[in-house]
Amino acid sequence: MKDVITLHINGDEVEVGVPTHFTLLETLRYALGLTGSKQGCDKGDCGACTVLLDGRPHLACIMPVYEAIGRQITTVEGLAERRVPHPLQDAFDLCGAAQCGFCTPGILCSAYGLLAENPDPSRDEIRQALSGNLCRCTGYTKIFEAVEIAAESLRTGTDPRDIVAERYDLAFPSSSMRPAEHTAGSSTGASHA
Ligand code: FES
Ligand code: FES
Repeated sequence: MKDVITLHINGDEVEVGVPTHFTLLETLRYALGLTGSKQGCDKGDCGACTVLLDGRPHLACIMPVYEAIGRQITTVEGLAERRVPHPLQDAFDLCGAAQCGFCTPGILCSAYGLLAENPDPSRDEIRQALSGNLCRCTGYTKIFEAVEIAAESLRTGTDPRDIVAERYDLAFPSSSMRPAEHTAGSSTGASHA
């Protein structure tokens, strides 16, 4: 049996018909085609399904979709604005903080929630905020560095490339030579449906 419900997702009001037993994650992935949020353990252990509800990270795999009605839902697909990647997405890309990428959408959402509450987190605060997100590939160091770089970018308005270039003594094209918009496909987070 299906019900038609209204959700607020990534700034849009969306009507969707869903089986009454669906979780928020099943609704996002299988009713709406928003496959950025990953179905990992499907029981609240890995963090791959993390999305933002009213700006705070939540596990979509253990949330009945009815509990999301009336709340502002943000998925990894909604982090970029007008196809320009969020500084977190740029920093993950620049730092090599995504390898297979399966954990990345959930980690980006957890990190986004952290930086909204704490613009200048310590390494330990980042570690704590991401402790519910499991990554089998990276060893976490690059992820923590990417969150630090994104935090600095958001605080100072500096392009993440310039922060990375200075921090690691690397050369990137100057900000003025970069395109104003990036394609969504170049950012982290929406792969591996
Ligand atoms: Fe939700 Fe693992 S898929 S916590
Ligand atoms: Fe592969 Fe994290 S990049 S699980």
